[in-house]
Parts: sequence; structure tokens; C-alpha cells
Amino acid sequence: MFSPPPMRVGPLTIETPVILAPMAAVTDLPFRTVCEEHGVGFTITEFLSAHALSAGDPKTHAKMTASLGGRAFGVQIFGREAAAMQEAARLAVSIGASLVDINMGCPAKRVVAGECGSALMREPEVAQALVRAVVEAVPANVPVTVKHRAGWDQAHRNAPEFACALVEAGAQMITVHGRTRTQGFSGKSDLEIIRLVREALPAHIPLVGNGDVVDVEGYVRMREATGCDAVMIGRGAMGNPWLFARLREVAAGRPDPGPPSLLERRAIFRRHVGLIRELRDNKRILHEVRKACAWYAKGLHGCNALRIAVWETPDIDGACALVEAYFADLIAHHDGRVAA
Ligand SMILES: Cc1cc2nc3c(=O)[nH]c(=O)nc-3n(C[C@H](O)[C@H](O)[C@H](O)COP(=O)(O)O)c2cc1C
Repeated sequence: MFSPPPMRVGPLTIETPVILAPMAAVTDLPFRTVCEEHGVGFTITEFLSAHALSAGDPKTHAKMTASLGGRAFGVQIFGREAAAMQEAARLAVSIGASLVDINMGCPAKRVVAGECGSALMREPEVAQALVRAVVEAVPANVPVTVKHRAGWDQAHRNAPEFACALVEAGAQMITVHGRTRTQGFSGKSDLEIIRLVREALPAHIPLVGNGDVVDVEGYVRMREATGCDAVMIGRGAMGNPWLFARLREVAAGRPDPGPPSLLERRAIFRRHVGLIRELRDNKRILHEVRKACAWYAKGLHGCNALRIAVWETPDIDGACALVEAYFADLIAHHDGRVAA
């Protein structure tokens, strides 16, 4: 069975080489916690504007949260002003971040319009200067890392050179999502460009492969085809933190425990909702609970009707009661073991 070693990023050891992808409006503290409890190796906050953090914006600050229980975590920042990036990185360190990741992959128009995110792949020297500035701002034991794409467009797939330039500037881990900026989320993440980045980088710099991994087979394929040191998973983890429990076993060379039973799915739903109630601010709880209801019923019999009913229910307890009744009914019919 395939059993890779833990990944080292400077002084940080990531035992299970599987990372939850930063995702805006998704990887909040409740979801990161659920994933950690299911065995993900490391989590990173969603991308946070360095400008907003340095200007003291309370909404952005509220998203910069330390993992519970003293678990190691990363903070991702984006921007292009060195001073703001330095201030944001210092703030991340002040809440205990084990690494500071710089976003150079976001394709969103509003981010690219500000010449941030993936736009930096067109300006390697500016990108290098930002890495140097952030490295200078944080203590030597806090690695600065970068997540970027394959390139700007099909004609400019510069990920290997770009990654090497960032490492020369002081980056200690690179994550590559194998799509270009112009692809957005269309087409497929290209494993070959990730392999080329692995080939180009110095051996001691870990490379994280990202894009389209939604199951155990995809994880093994990403590792084998690219030689990457860890795999980052985003969309495939939504409503499916159990995937991390499966990958933890597979990564340790043990058999895949398979998908969760209905009872286990319900338990994850309850835990996630409990964390949302405990950790999110009051205004967002109903929205987040509705999202969780849809996530954990996805793919099960009658999930669409449930989702609509939950969305029409005006209060949290009512929404949860619908999901409880839904699972109770499914479990009664399937003995708790069979996911429909
Ligand atoms: C809703 C959503 C929000 C995202 N937000 C971020 C982000 O804040 N920072 C980042 O680096 N990438 C972000 N991404 C990109 C993911 O981290 C990841 O690179 C991409 O989804 C490909 O991986 P996947 O196929 O496993 O989802 C986001 C993706 C999605 C779907």
C-alpha cells in the first residue's frame, strides 16, 4: 500500500500529507475543525485581503481564526502592497499561524483587477518582492508559502519558472492548482504541469498538488502522476470531510475504510452544526446551517426536496429538525449502513 512520509515545511511537520484548500466563504473555523477531526493534515484560512487586515477591517479580522485545540494552521493573505502584506503576515503570526501563505492563484475579476492573486503570475519580479517582504516580516520559524496556478493562460504556463523564482525569494512550500487563470474552474487541472513544477523545484522544497481530487483514486493519481509531496483538496471536501479519514488511512498504508454510513453522516452533520452554533456570529448561523443541511444530504434519496424545505424554513431549529427527520427516515429504511 502507498505510504508517503510526513511533509516538512521548514520547522513544521505535516503528518498526513493532505491539506484542506483555502476556500472563501467555505473554510471557516467550523468546517476546518470538522476536517481536522476527520484527519486532514493541515488547514489554511480562506484568502484575506492584506489591505483590509492592515486597515483594521473587523469583518476580515473575524475570518482570521486560529484552529481549535492548539492545532497547527496557516493563514492565507493576498495583496500587492509590501507594507500591507507585512502587517497582515505579522497579524497572522500574532494569532499563532504556523505558516503564512500568499495567494497568487485567485482568478476573480475583482482580485485580478487589483493586480493581485493570479495576476501576479504575469509579474514574477513583483511576486518575488512580495515574498521577500513577507519573509522579512515574520520570525524565521514561520515559513512563507505560495499557492498559484499553472499560469495566466494557455500561452503562458509559467508555473515551473514562477515557482523557482518564488523559492529563490524565500518561499518554503509551493502549491499548484493545475489550471490557468483564464480557465477559471473549467476544463481539467493538468497533472503534467504540476509534475514539471516538482521536477524544477529544489528537492527540499515541498510541492502540494491541487485540482479536481475528490476521492481516494484521485489522491493516488495526483501523487503518482506528479510526484507531489502532499495533495490539497477543496471542492471534494465540501460536505465530505470523511474523505480525509479515508485518506489518512490510505496515506498511512492502511486499507481505505470506505464511505460513511448514514449514522456517521448524521453524526458529522450534528457536529458541524454544533460548531457553527458555537463559533459563528448570530447573523450567519441560519445561512451556514442551511448550507450544512444541503451538504450532508447531497446524493442521498430525496435530498433535493429536503434542501428546498430547509431553505424555506425561517429558523435554525426548524431546519435542523427537518434534517433529523430526514436522516431518521433514511436510517429506518436502510438500517443505518447503506448510503442510498
Ligand atoms: C468557493 C471557492 C472559494 C475559493 N477560495 C479560495 C481562496 O480563498 N484561496 C485560494 O487560494 N483558493 C481558493 N479557491 C481555490 C481552491 O483553493 C482550489 O485551488 C480549487 O478549488 C481547485 O481545487 P479543488 O478541485 O480540489 O476544488 C476557492 C475555490 C472555491 C471553489
